Amino acid sequence: MYQILPTPRLSARIGGIGRVRLLPFYNRTAFPGEKASACLTAFSDYADRAFSLLFEEGEGGLTLEKDASLPFGGYALIAGIDGKVKLAASEEEGLSHGLATLLLAAEKAEDGKALSLPLLHLCDEPQGSWRGLMVDVARKFHPIRFLYDTVDLCWLYKINRLQLHFTDDESDTLPSEAFPKLPTAGRHYTKAQLTALDEYAASRGVTIVPEVDMPGHSTPFGKAYPELFGSHGILCSEEKTYKALETLIAEVASLFPNAPYLHLGGDEAQIARWERCPGCQAYCREKGIASTQELYAHFLSRVTNYTLSLGRTPILWEGFAKEYNHLISKKTLVIAWESYYQIAPDLLEGGFSLLNCSWQPLYIVTPTRHWEVSEILDWNIYTWRHFWEKSVASKRDITVSEGSPIVGGQLCAWGDRLVEYPSNEQAAREEFALIRRRLPALAEKTWNIHSDLSSELFEELYAHTDALLDKLLRRD
Ligand code: ACM
Repeated sequence: MYQILPTPRLSARIGGIGRVRLLPFYNRTAFPGEKASACLTAFSDYADRAFSLLFEEGEGGLTLEKDASLPFGGYALIAGIDGKVKLAASEEEGLSHGLATLLLAAEKAEDGKALSLPLLHLCDEPQGSWRGLMVDVARKFHPIRFLYDTVDLCWLYKINRLQLHFTDDESDTLPSEAFPKLPTAGRHYTKAQLTALDEYAASRGVTIVPEVDMPGHSTPFGKAYPELFGSHGILCSEEKTYKALETLIAEVASLFPNAPYLHLGGDEAQIARWERCPGCQAYCREKGIASTQELYAHFLSRVTNYTLSLGRTPILWEGFAKEYNHLISKKTLVIAWESYYQIAPDLLEGGFSLLNCSWQPLYIVTPTRHWEVSEILDWNIYTWRHFWEKSVASKRDITVSEGSPIVGGQLCAWGDRLVEYPSNEQAAREEFALIRRRLPALAEKTWNIHSDLSSELFEELYAHTDALLDKLLRRD
């Protein structure tokens, strides 16, 4: 078995135990575009960090082939007895995944001038289309360097979605030209930083999923612009608020031109506060909205519909009540996480596609709560678990049938307790250590949704992959 995580779906060793020498060149005639160029530059950068070998365009090394029959994200990697190394894919995400596999399979040749690969023939493709990680940068500011490390980590393990929880009660970390008082002083990213990060991620097959949490978890909005967003500890539901939110959502979309998804939060809103707001009550009367739960779904339908009008797919956390599922567009991807506000089978019956972020074992709350790797290996994308007695999933696992529209799974790293750390650096470093230990298991269970990889074998493979990761991470 190759020391690769997630484990390749189909592989065959050919022709015995020889090795193939790979000179640091690539022929990319089959992939002439800019996207492939960025993907190869990224690979060359990693090969340099890991093996002090920069790959360049030229003959006698790796040959890229375009094979339209390969599925999205899939690739074929061959190091043959004829001494040739070929990587085939139908598009750049597959190319990126194949290059990560190549690096994991490689050693440095003895003379230091080439890589050495085992003879191999791999055909690999993901089963889960969403293999994700979320990092909460709002509760604790994460220096931008950690976000680059996180993208490097995602690249190695073929994690293709990085959700950034940019806003919460503690801060708004996004820049804004439309609302210059919104970004929290001293703890927000700049437009240039985010553009560069987005490009860095895109060229590594990682899609950034920006999240702006609303209508709850949104204190900075009301503090900066109470006349627009209200001052009740929840965003108001008034026409002027929706107009302001539309401006904000359009701005976030323009900050992330590569992002097909915009996450609008929707979790844990203190909706009873709307009952004390005369403006929100007048809005309900005007629209014939009869209950606070209906208003919650109405709010989410307005912001998700607007997001759809921009050509982006909206995402919401589980939070709205199932009685009002019909109000929200079924093009919205819903994250089932707590199994409390409503459970996955209800959301599926309501017609939604789901992303599995089951609290147990996919939540990390540094340093207090996290689950063993073995628990992630024991989970699958059709199952939800929880320890919290109010969650339906605490009584027994909730499972849905295979073939249900579950797009995949995502590890979520929350900063609830990181706020207590005096240093941003230390907080981010400790969190990163917990993530890098668990993300490969999530990768395994979303790439191969039926994987029965044992903990013992996982550890053996992980020892190799994590040692390579160590070399890939920047030291500056
Ligand atoms: C969440 O954990 N509040 C989505």
